[in-house]
Amino acid sequence: MSAISPPEQRIWWKAPLDKLEFIWIAIAFVWSLVMFVMMIWWHIYGNQNLANVVSKTTKEMYAAKTQAVVDKYTVRTETDKQIPVVKPPAGSDIYLIGRLWDWWPIYELEKGKTYKLHLSAMDYMHGFSLQPQNINIQVHPNYDHTVKITPTQAGTYSIVCNEYCGVGHHAMVGRIYVK
Ligand code: CUA
Repeated sequence: MSAISPPEQRIWWKAPLDKLEFIWIAIAFVWSLVMFVMMIWWHIYGNQNLANVVSKTTKEMYAAKTQAVVDKYTVRTETDKQIPVVKPPAGSDIYLIGRLWDWWPIYELEKGKTYKLHLSAMDYMHGFSLQPQNINIQVHPNYDHTVKITPTQAGTYSIVCNEYCGVGHHAMVGRIYVK
């Protein structure tokens, strides 16, 4: 039997299991259990995976929540697009919108304080990529991705879109300040 010619025994799947074959199946099965446990173990102790919660929302609801935070805590605007710079109190829920083609608004956060960062898109799927931290989250319309963040280093962080979203994709950038 080869990959080209048909098998001699047409009903090959009824042939009894070879010992070697059985050993490989057993190894694969045990390994799959090991990987399954590792997945959970690494999530808790690996200090790498993001624990994010996703809930359903609507574009309108999400936009309204974002607007409310922007209206309340804007301290200035930046860039020629007049993007508001928002300085919310520590511990609060902050909402970031991804849309064609910007991340809105800009947040100014306090170092060492925890915030609940919400992410959603207004049109298509975008990719939230925080640099230089290398945190990546897919951002979908009508879904609210929430992740608890505690910035530990002061500085200016860039957000770039890492899901192709049209002709302005390369210019879809944002910013988070940590002071
Ligand atoms: Cu948004 Cu690419």
